[in-house]
Amino acid sequence: MQPTPEQLAQLSTTAAQAAHRAYAPYSRFYVGAALLLQSGEIVAGCNVENASYRLTTCAEQTAIARAVATLGPAIRILAVAVHNLNNAVCQPCGACRQTIAEFAGPDAMILYPGANGMVESCTLADLLPATFTLESR
Ligand code: THU
Repeated sequence: MQPTPEQLAQLSTTAAQAAHRAYAPYSRFYVGAALLLQSGEIVAGCNVENASYRLTTCAEQTAIARAVATLGPAIRILAVAVHNLNNAVCQPCGACRQTIAEFAGPDAMILYPGANGMVESCTLADLLPATFTLESR
């Protein structure tokens, strides 16, 4: 199932809105993420930092935990959009790539901020080839 251009536009907008809710007093790097699920639902998250630093949760992980908690363990992710308020050209971190891979196939689309305010895209396989999954064991 391929996301429509309208769904992807909505996904990017939702990620950008979520970045405004980030709790990032330590890094001041404000991140929003939005998941497009196979059901058509969009679920957003933002980074939530902690004074202990290592307990910080990334925006993508917050969104995924929220999606599972509200919709259940069978969720499948078709696309993920990330956005930050720092105008950084930035793709999901390594830990987030692995977390996304738990609920998405290699063809899942990743939308991220490119240069000059453009939204760039790639697939999950571009970011995380040879993924370790349940089937790898
Ligand atoms: N961060 C995310 O939310 N997602 C990523 O993929 C990269 C990093 C957050 C974690 C931390 O709160 C801040 O960005 C700086 O690393």
